[in-house]
Amino acid sequence: MTITIIGTGFVGVVSSAVFASFGNVVYGLDVDEVKVRSLSEGKVPFFEPELEELVGKSLSKGNLRFTTSYEEAVSQSEIVIIAVGTPSAADGTADLKYVKAATESLAPYLQEKTIVAIKSTVPPGTNRQVEEIISKHTDKEVSVVSLPEFLREGVAVSDTLHADRVVIGATQEWAIEKLLDLHEPLDGERVVMRPESAQMSKYAANAYLAMRITFINQIADLCEKTGADILEVIDGIGFDKRIGRHYWYPGLGYGGSCFPKDVKELAAVSKKLGDENNILVLMDHINEARIPVKLNDFGEKIGGWEGKQVSVLGLSFKPNTTDMREAPSLKVIPYLQEKNAIIKAYDPKAMDEAKKVWPSLFYANDVNEALDQAEVVIVLVEWDEFANLDLGRMKDGGWLIDTRQMYDKKSVESQQLQYLGIGTV
Ligand SMILES: NC(=O)c1ccc[n+]([C@@H]2O[C@H](COP(=O)([O-])OP(=O)(O)OC[C@H]3O[C@@H](n4cnc5c(N)ncnc54)[C@H](O)[C@@H]3O)[C@@H](O)[C@H]2O)c1
Repeated sequence: MTITIIGTGFVGVVSSAVFASFGNVVYGLDVDEVKVRSLSEGKVPFFEPELEELVGKSLSKGNLRFTTSYEEAVSQSEIVIIAVGTPSAADGTADLKYVKAATESLAPYLQEKTIVAIKSTVPPGTNRQVEEIISKHTDKEVSVVSLPEFLREGVAVSDTLHADRVVIGATQEWAIEKLLDLHEPLDGERVVMRPESAQMSKYAANAYLAMRITFINQIADLCEKTGADILEVIDGIGFDKRIGRHYWYPGLGYGGSCFPKDVKELAAVSKKLGDENNILVLMDHINEARIPVKLNDFGEKIGGWEGKQVSVLGLSFKPNTTDMREAPSLKVIPYLQEKNAIIKAYDPKAMDEAKKVWPSLFYANDVNEALDQAEVVIVLVEWDEFANLDLGRMKDGGWLIDTRQMYDKKSVESQQLQYLGIGTV
């Protein structure tokens, strides 16, 4: 098939590379000329494991092309996939301006019986708005469908190839058949439903996962006050098959490019519909407030942040990505700056991104330099590199603040250091 993927961000590049790897002709389209030039040379402008190799293979075969031309790409495509960003608007709802702009641009070049698939995370009902825009430009038969994306950054290629499920929100038989064909080489259940349900499934999945994080954080806070230990509690509840031991991440709260904005969107919609007090609204408040509360608490335990040599390890929002959207570091570093801590920052991959945010922060060249003579080390992200820190480099009596459960308290204390974690005393 010949397909166009609009938006060469995290989702768009992964989808482009994966669909091209199956022999489809894929146009990755973006309005950002710098990005398109870099991708055309085989350079992916962010870090994602396996992605650059996959892009390179199809570029050299010639069936993956990056372009800024809607005419070139869309006029040859049977399927056009919209994968542009959908950030939060000021009131928390999803801002659809990029989806609408992309639709305006693609509509004039659509061919008879093209599928326009919305992969961006959008509220149920967005298809009608997209259809309206398209109908202003063409009377060709076009099917607007929903193809929500469930990949996780850091394991995005593998998640796409080995998806748990492929959700197709479509009602026309010819479109469903074609989309099933397109996804044929991918693993996972096929789940076909109406577009509104597909779009709600995406929000519900993210809201549910964010809720597990919020829930376990609340239990972790109670553990700290009652002498329980959160990791023991996770074992205690997790062997119950209804609950499971997976996906429990006590820490500083959820971040990243999706959970915060998707919870905010559902919360804003609930509010608009008159439901001010539901769990989504509350979750958003709890998560927003969490980092300063925990940092105040740590600050009290270490005798104040002022003048302390603090090393911050992990600046991206999770391991194996350079993405810093809603990363904990974005709240932690300004907090520490305000408290006049002396900060050293380090991340295995996201340092260039961080330098755009804090050009004059002190960055360590490697993890050992970050540890040298640190009075406090705060681990924000569970990069593999942080699993075996040479803690002996820290100042004697220093504090390891482990927000990712990477260290055992006793073994840290046996090295003349003090340990602070989440959900443990
Ligand atoms: N990042 C993830 O992990 C993830 C996972 C699942 C779903 N999603 C959803 O997928 C969508 C895309 O997310 P992302 O992280 O890839 O976004 P991103 O910000 O990394 O990329 C979006 C791209 O769209 C481009 N763009 C904007 N307007 C355009 C236009 N009119 N025409 C062409 N290109 C345009 C931008 O230049 C940018 O390169 C969002 O709705 C997001 O919620 C993201």
